[in-house]
Amino acid sequence: MLLGTIVFVLVEAALIYIVIKYRRKDETTVPPQTHGSTKLEIIWTLIPAVILVFIAVPTVRIIFETQAKAPEGSLEVEVYGHQWWWEFKYPEYGFSTANEMYIPTGRTVNLVLRTKDVLHSFWVPQLAGKRDLIANRTNYIWFTPDSTTPTTVWNGFCTEYCGASHANMKFRVVTVQPDEFEGWVRHQQSNAAYTANVAPPASAAVPADIAASTAGAVATVVSNTQIDSSDLAERQAEEAQAVESPLLAGFIIPPDKVPMWTLPATPIPASIKFDDSLVGNPAEGEKLFSGAGTCNACHFIKGNPTAVGVIGPDLTHIATRLTLGAGLYKNDPKHMARWLKNARLMKPGNIMPTLGQGEYDPVLKNNMASGLTDQQIADLVAYLAALK
Ligand code: CUA
Repeated sequence: MLLGTIVFVLVEAALIYIVIKYRRKDETTVPPQTHGSTKLEIIWTLIPAVILVFIAVPTVRIIFETQAKAPEGSLEVEVYGHQWWWEFKYPEYGFSTANEMYIPTGRTVNLVLRTKDVLHSFWVPQLAGKRDLIANRTNYIWFTPDSTTPTTVWNGFCTEYCGASHANMKFRVVTVQPDEFEGWVRHQQSNAAYTANVAPPASAAVPADIAASTAGAVATVVSNTQIDSSDLAERQAEEAQAVESPLLAGFIIPPDKVPMWTLPATPIPASIKFDDSLVGNPAEGEKLFSGAGTCNACHFIKGNPTAVGVIGPDLTHIATRLTLGAGLYKNDPKHMARWLKNARLMKPGNIMPTLGQGEYDPVLKNNMASGLTDQQIADLVAYLAALK
């Protein structure tokens, strides 16, 4: 601002001085003309050229610096942009989370940025610069939260317009101390906290309109989403280990370390009604979740052998996350119930099907004749709330 002001004042002063000094003073005389002066042409070509050369030196140096490889021993996190949520994979530890990334202080984190569909851009303003996620290309950005960084939460955003819910594609970065990070990793690696070992019905009939609600949107998204067969193989390998990994006590950010500005306060669409007095049964919820072609077709839950989906977020420890719908709502039973009932009203463009009986589906443009009752939704909420 200061330098800009100085330049502005100098340029405007020179302009005003010259306009007045060389203006045409009467109708008969022509002011002195300089057109065709070779000397002047050379001067005003050379001066900017020299200035640009000087600017180019630090610019090129910084470009190489920002593109440099992360140091050895960095924590690698693969970041995948989806319409409209974030997937964070920890290849070193063999698990993935959604919309919430824990990183330890004092260690460089190397983010490997890729997209599963369109362009997105990763930005946590207070921690690092921003970098695009580009189709068929891998970008990198790395930074080190220094050892004085407290255990706290930072807001992150998508900063490349990517469709209907671009503004609702947020995430949280949780910086934690190294020992806390170890605890968090242990916990994330272990099985879901609630496994009643359901034997799901071999072929639960999915009602026609629920199937249509799912298929319509899934088809459009799947057509421009890159789902590698390796994704599925990876999930199945994780599931195979699941029996061996009991839930380990670990670390989750305590509520008093969560700044209030990282908790969303998005209002719930008024037309979604739900009876919050209903008491859910997690075992019933798990059964619903595990029926053929239901939630488990898109979501992964380590420890629930029916749930190996790769389209939606990994829900193994969903109850430990702060937010729902990529930073859009607080993750609590109240919001979860409405999300399950009508996710497309909760988040425009959402691929998650409309599940509530009688709810309006904006993609099918009609009300759902079948679907889940409020009691069934309460059961599902109880199951998901148990996945700590
Ligand atoms: Cu993703 Cu904007």
